[in-house]
Amino acid sequence: MRATIVFTLLILWNFVLVHGATSNTKRHYIVYMGHHSYKNSEAVKSANHDTLASVTGSHNAAQNAALHHYTRSFRGFSAMLTPDQANKLSESDSVISLFESKTSKIHTTHSWKFLNMKSVLGSKQPLELKSDVIIGMLDSGVWPESKSFDDYGLDAVPKRFKGECVTGEHFSMHNCNRKIIGARYYSKGYEQEYGSLESFNLTFYRSARDADGHGSHTASTVAGSVVPYSSLLGLANGTARGGAPGARLAIYKVCWFGFCSDADVLSAMDDAISDGVDIMSISLGPDPPQPSYFSDAISIGSFHAFQKGIVVSASAGNSGFPGTVTNAAPWILSVAASTIDREFDSLIYLNNSKPIKGHGVNLGNTNNYYELVAGSNAAAPGVPAINASFCKENTLDPTLIKGKIIVCMLETVFEDRREKAVFIKKGGGVGIILIDPLAEDLLVQFVIQGVVISPEAAPELLAYIASYKKPMARITHSVTVLSTKPAPEMATFSSKGPNSRTPDIIKPDITAPGVNILAAWSPVSTESTAGRELDYNILSGTSMACPHASAAAAIIKSYHPSWSAAAIKSAIMTTAFVIDNDLNYIRLNLNNTRASPFDYGSGHLNPGRAINPGLVYDYDSNDILDLLCSKGANPAQLKNLTGKVEHCKSSPTPSYNLNYPSIAVSNMRGNLSVYRTVTYYGEGRNLYIPKIDNPSGVKVSVTPTQLRFYAYGEKLTYRLDFVPYEVSNGSYVFGAFAWIDGVNPVTSPIALNVISV
Ligand SMILES: *[C@@H]1O[C@H](CO)[C@@H](O)[C@H](O)[C@H]1NC(C)=O
Ligand SMILES: *[C@@H]1O[C@H](CO)[C@@H](O)[C@H](O)[C@H]1NC(C)=O
Ligand SMILES: *[C@@H]1O[C@H](CO)[C@@H](O)[C@H](O)[C@H]1NC(C)=O
Ligand SMILES: *[C@@H]1O[C@H](CO)[C@@H](O)[C@H](O)[C@H]1NC(C)=O
Ligand SMILES: *[C@@H]1O[C@H](CO)[C@@H](O)[C@H](O)[C@H]1NC(C)=O
Ligand SMILES: *[C@@H]1O[C@H](CO)[C@@H](O)[C@H](O)[C@H]1NC(C)=O
Ligand SMILES: *[C@@H]1O[C@H](CO)[C@@H](O)[C@H](O)[C@H]1NC(C)=O
Ligand SMILES: *[C@@H]1O[C@H](CO)[C@@H](O)[C@H](O)[C@H]1NC(C)=O
Repeated sequence: MRATIVFTLLILWNFVLVHGATSNTKRHYIVYMGHHSYKNSEAVKSANHDTLASVTGSHNAAQNAALHHYTRSFRGFSAMLTPDQANKLSESDSVISLFESKTSKIHTTHSWKFLNMKSVLGSKQPLELKSDVIIGMLDSGVWPESKSFDDYGLDAVPKRFKGECVTGEHFSMHNCNRKIIGARYYSKGYEQEYGSLESFNLTFYRSARDADGHGSHTASTVAGSVVPYSSLLGLANGTARGGAPGARLAIYKVCWFGFCSDADVLSAMDDAISDGVDIMSISLGPDPPQPSYFSDAISIGSFHAFQKGIVVSASAGNSGFPGTVTNAAPWILSVAASTIDREFDSLIYLNNSKPIKGHGVNLGNTNNYYELVAGSNAAAPGVPAINASFCKENTLDPTLIKGKIIVCMLETVFEDRREKAVFIKKGGGVGIILIDPLAEDLLVQFVIQGVVISPEAAPELLAYIASYKKPMARITHSVTVLSTKPAPEMATFSSKGPNSRTPDIIKPDITAPGVNILAAWSPVSTESTAGRELDYNILSGTSMACPHASAAAAIIKSYHPSWSAAAIKSAIMTTAFVIDNDLNYIRLNLNNTRASPFDYGSGHLNPGRAINPGLVYDYDSNDILDLLCSKGANPAQLKNLTGKVEHCKSSPTPSYNLNYPSIAVSNMRGNLSVYRTVTYYGEGRNLYIPKIDNPSGVKVSVTPTQLRFYAYGEKLTYRLDFVPYEVSNGSYVFGAFAWIDGVNPVTSPIALNVISV
């Protein structure tokens, strides 16, 4: 059943892709050549053309075939090649790896063609930056006129920034300022794979200007300036601000109409690394399962970024089911999505009883009662009632729905919600009540008045309809409800672990607000907003969660500019919380059961505490290679990743011993010890004592039983002994381990799959 839902989604996307693809037998390949020592970009290009000419036959043909040249942070190119040419080229000595350019998509639920809503972390004051931080946004561009990108109060652009303000359609030098300090756009890969941008007959700008809204939303969530009284036409009215309002933004537009070509993404990463960004925020990704790290553009590009100390924060995906987490490489901060304590409620008044609570965006005059009819009772001639209940195209009889509010069901969880209202409107209907298991995660903007209710609320409604000859209902104007409990809860759509590639690393790493987030929008993007031209919009997705984590990384970076990407990640993870505002463990929105580290990783983002975590788990790219070696990677694969000849140690460290801030053992047979090393980044002397939460069926102990630090920067290693006494029956058991200095715990979740005792 689950597989089917995911599969349906994939078929849908594949259809779109194949439909848009050209019928050329040549395909778009990324040719990765690793580090280089050429003097400049031109020299790399010329060498690339030489390499390519060896298979295309001539320099001329080589120049025609080449699309992107990766010349700055690593060497390579992308080109249109026949499979034969590609094969030949992959045997060339200078070529490290060669793989087809695939497609990523943006991680809003809007990318499933539906859109939902709630908001940003209450009204807490934003944390100030201690020093300049530059965040690279790989997304759909930016709407530069939004008040969120005002540069009031910012100092001159940091001199170390080497990026550019690339001009283009409706985007001039004036659109960059001290907030948007760089803007580039990439479409070669996309257009080669799917046809020219013009051929889509949709609104777009051939520049960094955002026609989609997604890029403006994520950019303003990271570093938007403080804008009072922002709202979606009065809903969520309040101060909009990014998590790090003092940070700078470098815009890399890589997505068009929701899709992003890997070749373009890699080109943007090549530039971003070399432009000097401190953080990369990536709210897009491949469909699950996670592709091999050795042939995935985001994994390869982010590995280079990690080596240079750049934190790559990326969305975990919106696929909802176990094992679907993507952007899951151990050098990426993978971000899940959870709710905040805000809802947008709309009530349904039936003629006879107390109102039923729904969620919606109803902003017009909605005081009238209308007749209510179930879609299944309004089937078009020849259509079975069950088909009509889904309110799809040509299934409803216009004479039976005219002037009425229609009650609709979903056929599959991930289907388009908005179009149902479009079909109802076409048939003369005036409203929609949608019964949806994701009602709390997904607030849809319908073209007519509409609310979404949970299946638990449905029986009362359906009973009322059945018991009256002429049932009537009224849908109220939407209101913003604050301080709702419990919050946070894990969004049902948020992709879950375990990590299908390296199960000894818990993924996702962290959760952050990703349900109904208000942020800047592109007013020309009206398809998902019921035709409204909005400056601020409310969206949901791990796409919205990722920039919250990127902002936290920016704040930490500004306090500790010399910290490695791993140290910053560690600070974010070990300070996360797992308790909601009802003082229970964070639960799943789906069914109110307790969530696990495979839902939220180390827990919910806690930026205030993350600035001073006390202890840090650090690791570098050599440790990562060791991890990959322990998972059986061969030198050729490692070379594919790093671009250099790499050798595995004769006995690589087991992957569960990577000095990661969380702990997982995917294959535990009897007693096992795990090692970690912490670096003390506190002031003066300090004593830490352990706190252990044993996973079910496993006894955990620690040696030594206390850690005594005398100076900043000091490192100490400890050992955790796991003694299992019960097998975990093929699933994982979860616990936690923390070092506490009396005040601040430094916590790591534990996930163990006990095969035998
Ligand atoms: C590494 O690259 C080579 C050459 O492109 C390719 O044949 C091989 O399959 C790659 N290995 C992996 C694990 O992707
Ligand atoms: C392009 O879109 C417009 C507006 O949606 C529509 O009227 C027109 O028919 C479309 N053209 C093509 C060639 O599809
Ligand atoms: C938002 O709230 C402010 C202050 O309460 C009010 O003045 C303003 O009219 C509100 N905006 C909207 C669009 O409701
Ligand atoms: C409510 O129901 C009663 C009884 O069926 C009917 O007389 C009355 O007109 C209804 N009111 C509205 C607002 O539809
Ligand atoms: C009703 O729905 C089923 C399943 O989606 C489909 O196979 C069938 O063709 C539909 N029937 C009609 C008359 O639309
Ligand atoms: C709640 O949902 C989760 C995830 O699908 C599932 O594993 C769990 O068994 C469910 N719990 C209940 C009580 O239905
Ligand atoms: C596992 O460790 C426990 C506690 O140290 C010990 O009693 C037990 O004998 C060990 N089991 C094996 C198989 O070594
Ligand atoms: C594994 O299954 C056994 C037998 O059903 C049960 O007693 C035990 O509690 C299970 N262990 C875990 C960790 O779920």
